[in-house]
Amino acid sequence: MTQDEKIRLLKLLYQYRAMGFEYFKEYRPVQEANLSVLPNTLEELKEAMLNCHLCQLAKTRKKVVFGEGNAHAKILFIGEGPGASEDDTGRPFVGRAGELLTKMIENVLELSREDVYIANVVKCRPPENRVPTHEEVSSCKPYLMQQIRAISPKIIVALGSTAFHHLTGEYDTPITKIRGEVFEFEKAKLIPTYHPSYLLRNPSAKKEVYLDMLKIKRML
Ligand code: URA
Repeated sequence: MTQDEKIRLLKLLYQYRAMGFEYFKEYRPVQEANLSVLPNTLEELKEAMLNCHLCQLAKTRKKVVFGEGNAHAKILFIGEGPGASEDDTGRPFVGRAGELLTKMIENVLELSREDVYIANVVKCRPPENRVPTHEEVSSCKPYLMQQIRAISPKIIVALGSTAFHHLTGEYDTPITKIRGEVFEFEKAKLIPTYHPSYLLRNPSAKKEVYLDMLKIKRML
C-alpha cells in the first residue's frame, strides 16, 4: 500500500468513527473452487486439491485428505472432515471412527474398504476437530461435487448431519428425523445415517445404523 493510499484509508476510518462506528467485521468474500474449470478425473482433481489454499484450513492442515477407494465404487461414504489421524496420514477415516466404519463395511455390507469410496465434506482438518464453517464448506464443496460426478456412485451415504446438511441444503432437518430415508441426489440415492464418531459416544444407536446398512446392501 502506498503512503497516499494509507492516508486515504486512515481518513476514511476517522470518518467512520465520527459517524459512531466502533467496530465492523471485515468483509471477506468466500472463495470457492470454480466447478466449471475443475478437472474431471480423480487423479487430476486430487492434484489440484493438494495445492488448495482457498480457505483458512489450509494454514493449519498437515495433509490434504482427498479421499480414497474404488474410483468406480457403487457406494460413496461422505463424512464431515479429517481428524488428527487423517491429517497425519492424508487418508480418510483411519482413526477410531474409521475402524468402526471399516467394520460396518466389512461385516454388514460384506465389502472391503477398497470396494467403496470414502471422502469428506471438507478435505482439511478443522482445528480441534470443530465442525467446519459454512465458508469452509462453500470453498470446498465444488471439489466434492466434482468428486461425486467422477465416481458416479449408485448410493451416497451421508455420515452425520454435517454431510447431510451441506449436501442437501436442508439445514433445519435433524438427522434423527431422516436417518435411513432415501433421497434423490444428482444421479444417486442419498441415504443419511449417524456418523461413526456419534456411535462411539452413543453405542445404542449402532442398531439403527445396522438397519441402514442392511437397507443399503439390499439396494446395491
Ligand atoms: N471423521 C470424519 O468425518 N472424517 C474422517 O475422515 C475421520 C473422522
